[in-house]
Amino acid sequence: MTTLPHRPHAMKADKSIDPVETSVLRTRDGYIDIHSHVLPGIDDGPATLEESIVLCADLARQNVSHVIATPHQLNFDDHAQPALPNEKGTHANSVRLLVRQLNSELTRRGIDLTVHAGGEVRVSPDIIEALDTGLALTLCDEHRFVLIELPFDTTIPARGIVERLHSAGLGVILAHPERYTASQTNPGFLREWSHHQVMFQVNAGSIVGEYGRTVQKLALELIQSGGVHFIASDAHNATTLGRRGPQIRAAADLIRDTFGQHVVRQLLIDNPRLVVPLSEPPMPKAPFSLGLASNSQVLQSR
Ligand SMILES: [Fe+2]
Repeated sequence: MTTLPHRPHAMKADKSIDPVETSVLRTRDGYIDIHSHVLPGIDDGPATLEESIVLCADLARQNVSHVIATPHQLNFDDHAQPALPNEKGTHANSVRLLVRQLNSELTRRGIDLTVHAGGEVRVSPDIIEALDTGLALTLCDEHRFVLIELPFDTTIPARGIVERLHSAGLGVILAHPERYTASQTNPGFLREWSHHQVMFQVNAGSIVGEYGRTVQKLALELIQSGGVHFIASDAHNATTLGRRGPQIRAAADLIRDTFGQHVVRQLLIDNPRLVVPLSEPPMPKAPFSLGLASNSQVLQSR
C-alpha cells in the first residue's frame, strides 16, 4: 500500500533551528516541487525552451532539486492554445518527450535540477479514462498520486470524483485550495474535500501574498490548522520575467519564521519525497557472509 504523506499537526510557533536549514544547501536534499509549469510551449508556462531553462535555473537557485512538470490537462476552456491544441500538446507522450529533452538540456548546462512528468488535471467525468489513455498524467507518471484542479468559480461535489480516483488506487492531491472562490465564501467547501481524504497543496505564491491578502490569509490558516500536505511553486515564469514566478524560497522563509523549520521540512521535503521517487526502490538483500561457502562454491559443489 502506498505510504501517504502526513500533514503537520496544528501549529504552534517554533523557531528552533532544524538541521535541514544547512542540509537544504546540498542539492540532493533540496526542496521538491510537485506542481509547476516548466515545460515549453504546451500550456500557459514558458513559450520556449530558453524560457524553460531560465525558470528551471531560478528553481535550482531556490534550492529546488526536483520538480514535477504539471501542464494543465483536460482544461480546455481556460488554457487551450489554438496553435497547439491542449489535448495533443499535453498528451502523456508529449509531456514525457519534453521532460526528457529538458532534463538533457539542464544536464548539458550544468543546472542541478531533475524534472519529472506529471499533470494538473481538471476534474472531469472522464478523468479515469483520460488517465488510462494518456490525455492526463499522474504525478511522476507512476499511477500513485494525481494532482487535480477544480473550476475556479463553480463548485463540484467531492464525493463522486474522489471515490472514483481512490477506487483506481490513486491518492488525490488538490492544487491550491486557497485560490477557489468557494473556499473563500463557503467554509464547508474545503472541509468536504478534506473529509474525503483529499490532500491539499498550497501555492508558495499564495503564502507570500502574490494573489492578495484574502488568499494569503486562508493559505496560512490552512497550514496553521494542519490541513496542508504540500507547498509547491505552481510556477509559470522565472521570477525575473514577472508574475507567477517560483516563490519557494520566500514562502519557506515565511513558513519557517511563522511555524518553524519542521513545517518547512514536512511540506517541501518529507511529504513530496513520498510522491517523487528519488532513488531506485530498495532490493531485498542476503545477510552478510556468515563464514559459510559462497553461493558459487555451493553451486559448484553440487
Ligand atoms: Fe498550476
